[in-house]
Amino acid sequence: MATYDFSGRTLVVTGAAGGIGRAVAERFFRDGANVFLLDLDQDALDTLATTLQGGSDPTRRARIATMAADLADPEAATHAARLIEQAFGGVDFLVSCAGIYLAEPLAGMSDEQWRRTLSVNLDGVFYLTRRLVPLLREGSAIVNLSSMAAHRGAFCNAHYSASKGALLSFTRSIARELGPRTRVNAVSPGIIETPMTSELLKTRAAESIDQSIVKRLGQAHEVAAAVAFLCSDDASFITAEVLQVNGGLYVCG
Ligand SMILES: NC(=O)c1ccc[n+]([C@@H]2O[C@H](COP(=O)([O-])OP(=O)(O)OC[C@H]3O[C@@H](n4cnc5c(N)ncnc54)[C@H](O)[C@@H]3O)[C@@H](O)[C@H]2O)c1
Repeated sequence: MATYDFSGRTLVVTGAAGGIGRAVAERFFRDGANVFLLDLDQDALDTLATTLQGGSDPTRRARIATMAADLADPEAATHAARLIEQAFGGVDFLVSCAGIYLAEPLAGMSDEQWRRTLSVNLDGVFYLTRRLVPLLREGSAIVNLSSMAAHRGAFCNAHYSASKGALLSFTRSIARELGPRTRVNAVSPGIIETPMTSELLKTRAAESIDQSIVKRLGQAHEVAAAVAFLCSDDASFITAEVLQVNGGLYVCG
């Protein structure tokens, strides 16, 4: 596994208590980054912080800050930006992993269900990204978590795939505005074994494995590896791009 030197640099990761967000936090922390962890539940964030800290070394603890927030709330994003600045002064990497994936067929989808998914998966990314623009340092990088669903659509998840498709357009647009200071890319995972997919996998795991090229499901650390690459200097000429991490389950043209 490649390692990057992220020491002295600061990662902000949303959805940090989830499968992919946690893997991103672990990997960047291991590679030396300060980490600002955002998710809904403070207890889950405290548990993650304790795991990352891995002992009583105060220098490791000083590299971790947490905040529980509903990022669909613009006020929470404003508060988060203030705390991030207080904790670490600026931002080198922003990885937006917070998201919801709720099976809701179009014929019965309520306006509230549509709005909630768009609020978390799209509005929430805008709220925090916009507020962190003044804190982004020279040579910084943003990675947004889109999805295979953005490219091929999603069954009973029209709101989810719409939010993830819009996130790709958002990614390309802000890459044009924030460069060259900040590179902005997206990752589109296929089916990754995390809490988000646990229900789906009860019925669809075998079919997904069979249809993929690598004949297995993805793991959160494999998405984190793609995120780390896109944030690293190895990706210094890559911006406004999307990286598929799907084991060949869906091959894009
Ligand atoms: N797991 C997959 O197969 C897969 C595939 C494609 C894309 N993705 C995307 O990757 C990202 C991470 O997915 P995951 O599999 O780790 O999911 P997960 O459910 O394990 O984690 C998502 C995290 O986001 C947090 N969250 C939800 N709403 C929030 C809100 N309003 N404010 C703050 N935090 C909130 C949750 O508490 C959770 O910890 C998501 O954006 C997801 O859409 C995942």
